[in-house]
Amino acid sequence: MKITTDRLFIRRFRPEDWQDIYEYLSDEEVVRYLPYEAYTSDRAREAAIKRAEQDFFYAVCLKENGKVIGELLFKKMEFDTWELGYVFNPRYKGKGLAFESAKAFLDHAFRELGARRIVAMCNPNNERSWKLMERLSMRREGLLVKNIYFKTDESGEPIWLDTLEYGILKDEWCGNPQPEKQ
Ligand SMILES: CC(C)(COP(=O)(O)OP(=O)(O)OC[C@H]1O[C@@H](n2cnc3c(N)ncnc32)[C@H](O)[C@@H]1OP(=O)(O)O)[C@@H](O)C(=O)NCCC(=O)NCCS
Repeated sequence: MKITTDRLFIRRFRPEDWQDIYEYLSDEEVVRYLPYEAYTSDRAREAAIKRAEQDFFYAVCLKENGKVIGELLFKKMEFDTWELGYVFNPRYKGKGLAFESAKAFLDHAFRELGARRIVAMCNPNNERSWKLMERLSMRREGLLVKNIYFKTDESGEPIWLDTLEYGILKDEWCGNPQPEKQ
């Protein structure tokens, strides 16, 4: 599988991508809303090997030089529903690159992979993330209150977090004009 857009191509990960992964996942700000700590270089090496074996992580690469500038997660759930996730290198933020890759991936998933419904979730404070979902024409479907925790406090109690849920159906994606930059 290789998806190409104006500025990007999307492919499966390779073990040699670890340095590019390290560049973005070692950044505290990038992992702020993710369920893990900033990566060490060893963890990035292991992650690249693992991502290369898993069929739900995809590397987003710049066409001009092949650099991996981010990743898409696309995982099958029940009922022909797939979950979309994304993490990008902040050096390339604000250029619409996450949007460009996710839009192409959604189109591929609905037209080629048999996806019926695609969902995405994020912390309500992660504005860049839910704005991207809205740019993709996804619908805000709910706010789950204190449904999840990634960390515990000093006394070991869970720090509960809220989750915003977004979704879009194949009929909506294929029956409407493709979302454009807003
Ligand atoms: C979530 C994340 C991928 C969003 O990245 P992003 O660069 O803001 O997303 P986009 O690609 O949609 O870019 C949007 C910006 O590019 C601008 N832009 C420029 N050219 C554009 C184009 N051709 N098309 C679309 N947008 C364009 C938009 O106006 C917007 O600008 P703004 O930030 O000033 O509003 C990024 O913040 C990230 O990796 N965060 C850390 C990891 C994370 O939290 N992941 C989500 C977990 S739920």
